[in-house]
Amino acid sequence: MLSYIEPVFRPPSEGRSLILQVTNGCSWNKCTFCEMYTQEQKKFRAKKPEEIEAEIKQAARSIMPLEKVFLADGDAMVLPTRRLKEILLLIKEHMPWVRRVSSYCLPRNVLKKTTEELSELKGLGLGMLYVGCESGDNEVLEAVSKGETYHSQKDALLKIKAAGITSSVMILNGLGGPKLSEQHALNSAKLMNECQPDFLSTLVVSFPLGEERLKEGFGGDWSLMDQTGLFLELKHFISNLQLENTVFRSDHASNYLPLKGTLGKDKQAMLAQIDQALYQPDTVRLRQEWQRGL
Ligand SMILES: C[S@@+](CC[C@H](N)C(=O)[O-])C[C@H]1O[C@@H](n2cnc3c(N)ncnc32)[C@H](O)[C@@H]1O
Ligand code: SF4
Repeated sequence: MLSYIEPVFRPPSEGRSLILQVTNGCSWNKCTFCEMYTQEQKKFRAKKPEEIEAEIKQAARSIMPLEKVFLADGDAMVLPTRRLKEILLLIKEHMPWVRRVSSYCLPRNVLKKTTEELSELKGLGLGMLYVGCESGDNEVLEAVSKGETYHSQKDALLKIKAAGITSSVMILNGLGGPKLSEQHALNSAKLMNECQPDFLSTLVVSFPLGEERLKEGFGGDWSLMDQTGLFLELKHFISNLQLENTVFRSDHASNYLPLKGTLGKDKQAMLAQIDQALYQPDTVRLRQEWQRGL
């Protein structure tokens, strides 16, 4: 329906959303594990307002009205509040049936906006932000050039909450490699406990184009963990979570073991599923290597 600069990524839960590419690529594009926007055609650019308006009008004329809109690509929240307000108002005007707009977002782009500005965006329809924290451990965050710290992520998540916007956090299983696995799990759990996000998902770090760039940041001392190591890390992470009402999922295509539930009430059941995958792998349906993807 709309023309996109490919590839386009979106969270699994936005599979039935209209994807509106308000920017191309990622304004940061330096995380060493992320190959999503590294191709030449994905160089960062904010789309011109008139292009976005034309696309919104075109989508509005389509025969299938979609109730959710996802603002792509990697961090639409990099746009100034004024631009985001214009976009949300255009969606309201031309697609009044839309009940939620969402986007990926880097913590620092949230911190550049005031809570009042975020509340205003929420009032105009911005209902959900997906934050790729990846880790709560400062050593891991620095090694992968995320450009964020435990505290910048904590401040951003609390600000999103204060503005009444739903938050969905991504943590990367295996990101610290075997050496930093324990502190990665522990500090990621601590960050989640302090922020109590509405949604939390884990993805398994995977490298379609190779892991050399990532390894460099760890001084060469990094390796891809095997399934057992990944499950043990996940177990360590989940057992340290003290969440009150967070929907947890590890159903992204990168995961070997798809888990779903609400934390805390399903914590013991999830830990039991991980134990089953660890100690009775033949009794569990694990995603095969060929079924995995990003
Ligand atoms: C398209 S990115 C956008 C996220 C947003 N820019 C941010 O940093 O918050 C979405 C997520 O994909 C995941 N991702 C990126 N590269 C990955 C990789 N090599 N393996 C697994 N997951 C990856 C990360 O969790 C990342 O936050
Ligand atoms: S993880 Fe997010 S911030 Fe980092 S390069 Fe990828 S899209 Fe950009």
